[in-house]
Amino acid sequence: MQILQGKKIVLGITGGIAAYKTPELVRRLKDQGADIRVVMTTAAKAFITPLTLQAVSANAVSDSLLDSQAELAMGHIELAKWADYILIAPATADAIARITCGMANDLLTTICLATSAPIAIAPAMNQQMWHASITQENIEKLAARKYQIFGPGAGEQACGDVGLGRMLDVDDLVTLTCQFFQSNTTLNQVDLSGQTWLITAGPTREAIDPVRYISNHSSGKMGYAIAQAAKLAGAQVQIISGPVNISTPKGCEKIAVESALEMHQQAIKLAKNADVFVACAAVADYRVSNIAEQKIKKSADEMHIHLVKNPDIVADVAALKIKPFTVGFAAETQNVEHYALGKLKRKNLDMIAANNVALAGQGFNSDDNALMVFSKNSKTELPLASKHVLAAQLVELISQHQIEK
Ligand code: C5P
Repeated sequence: MQILQGKKIVLGITGGIAAYKTPELVRRLKDQGADIRVVMTTAAKAFITPLTLQAVSANAVSDSLLDSQAELAMGHIELAKWADYILIAPATADAIARITCGMANDLLTTICLATSAPIAIAPAMNQQMWHASITQENIEKLAARKYQIFGPGAGEQACGDVGLGRMLDVDDLVTLTCQFFQSNTTLNQVDLSGQTWLITAGPTREAIDPVRYISNHSSGKMGYAIAQAAKLAGAQVQIISGPVNISTPKGCEKIAVESALEMHQQAIKLAKNADVFVACAAVADYRVSNIAEQKIKKSADEMHIHLVKNPDIVADVAALKIKPFTVGFAAETQNVEHYALGKLKRKNLDMIAANNVALAGQGFNSDDNALMVFSKNSKTELPLASKHVLAAQLVELISQHQIEK
């Protein structure tokens, strides 16, 4: 599903080193169906060429307010009216300051002034410049005027400093842009700072012998998307993950496990310090009672493996004396609501997110999903969307219920 299908986005690029990431950003936004027109400041062109962005966007790049040819093709007012959304990434301290003052001294700032489209800003600058009180005042003013502020992220900077000021990753910017178009609310409004979220994700592997195991098709995508959304909202995030082929979202801590018993041990240990526990893993219900020490040799026509029940991780976390707000998942192929409500009660969960894995295009291994989310006295439908968008909506829902509890 292409979330940005038919959406017209102006990508404003200003003069920061993170400009080198913008061709990938353009490609990823286009993958989601967006039509992108790039507007560059003069300084941006010192970091990346207009030709590169023209090639990836498949549209002419605009970079001058006073270019008569460009104005004939698509003038600045036309461009400002064309946009459904303006994303400025990277946004330097200088660009932010000029936009805050309402200046119109280049093409990008003029478009910002002349548009009625929502504007999102992804700041990127040295950590000292980010922390400067004047920059902070500018950001506050823009936020008060309903500009969306994406990031910045923390980490090592091009100049060698460490701290806040890095442009958010391309993945995060695409997710936040998609969220804007999919829901009226954004993670910008959810503040999870100070909270620890513990998430199980992916499949478990139950060894039969040193080379064989029992597992399932879980990709880990949903759990990792929830981890990323919680991280973006400011939480400290730990993922207890079975073996998956996807990368760990930036800033999240991954605790790699294989079997249900290992996942159980880590979950019980870490849940004591968690505010929220989300059990997204597809845990094997049974494990092999006697794992063979050596590879089992082929001999008889039939062989039997004896299985024993695994502990129920989410139920055991929910039974802790001091328990986090506990959310389970229910992947069902029929009677979704009935089974989900049964699990909510039986496992003593605060919330359960149920999906019908029998429907095409959602569930295991898919990039999309649809959820019905139940708590003791509420039912919320989250319609088919990318797992990233759903994750953001679920994180917001969890955060609301957590407050009410
Ligand atoms: O397998 P079942 O449908 O009962 O799974 C429902 C929820 O319980 C899921 O959130 C899953 O992660 C969790 N679960 C668990 N430990 C198990 C089995 C399931 O935490 N052994």
